[in-house]
Amino acid sequence: MNAPSAALRPETGAAGPLTVAQPYLIQQDWSAYSAEQHAVWAELVRRRMPQLLEHAAQEYLDGFHQIGLREDTIPNLADVNRRLAPRTGWNATPVSGFLPPDAFFEMLGARQFPTTTYIRSRESMQYTPEPDIFHDVFGHVPMHAHPVFADFLQHYGRVCARLMGDKDRLEKMGRLFWFTVEFGVIRQNGKVKLYGSGLISSHGEGTHVIEGRPQIRDFDLDLVLEQKFLVSEEQKVLYAVESFDQIYEAAQQAEKRLA
Ligand SMILES: [Fe+2]
Repeated sequence: MNAPSAALRPETGAAGPLTVAQPYLIQQDWSAYSAEQHAVWAELVRRRMPQLLEHAAQEYLDGFHQIGLREDTIPNLADVNRRLAPRTGWNATPVSGFLPPDAFFEMLGARQFPTTTYIRSRESMQYTPEPDIFHDVFGHVPMHAHPVFADFLQHYGRVCARLMGDKDRLEKMGRLFWFTVEFGVIRQNGKVKLYGSGLISSHGEGTHVIEGRPQIRDFDLDLVLEQKFLVSEEQKVLYAVESFDQIYEAAQQAEKRLA
């Protein structure tokens, strides 16, 4: 892949301390997880990995190993960050739960990914309405080890932070997030591969794509910004990029048009 030159990717370095998001920051008490909770993590990973080894984007699989995720235990975020931060400046930062948009975008703009520490129970193995550490860390964080994706996500957060209060434009930006970060696919070696966290972390959603049920369109920013979606239904349309440079450039274009 041809990474854009540094001149095109100015998002580097640490941002100032968080202010809006500050009340939501917590510590992860890793020693408090029970054996049962680690077993739930292990089962979730084991259920996803065979499919992902064949159908996930190579960058996701590389990131999984680079940040030291393990199959058998819930990740200790301090350990993840010791590996992740030197690569791209990103951290998985523990938060208390769902964040309001301004806090969420502030954190993305500071290369801090809001990460829940709670893990679903065995009874809700297939589906959890609220993101948990499996969705957030297994699903999202490996991609943050990829330099271009890392820059894209920070830039995305900064653009959205500037659009606070503009409901229509934020809704369009929400579609860009949905069809990349959450439900993104990429063409690699002639095949459609998964990289969005909603596809990575959900066996049902991942299988839906692999079985060819959603229509896969070429990524086009104009179409994505207008593409409505339902959170509660399996996706009918997805947008495939050819490289991660494309989503970085899409965030730049979206900024020009909307911010
Ligand atoms: Fe997510």
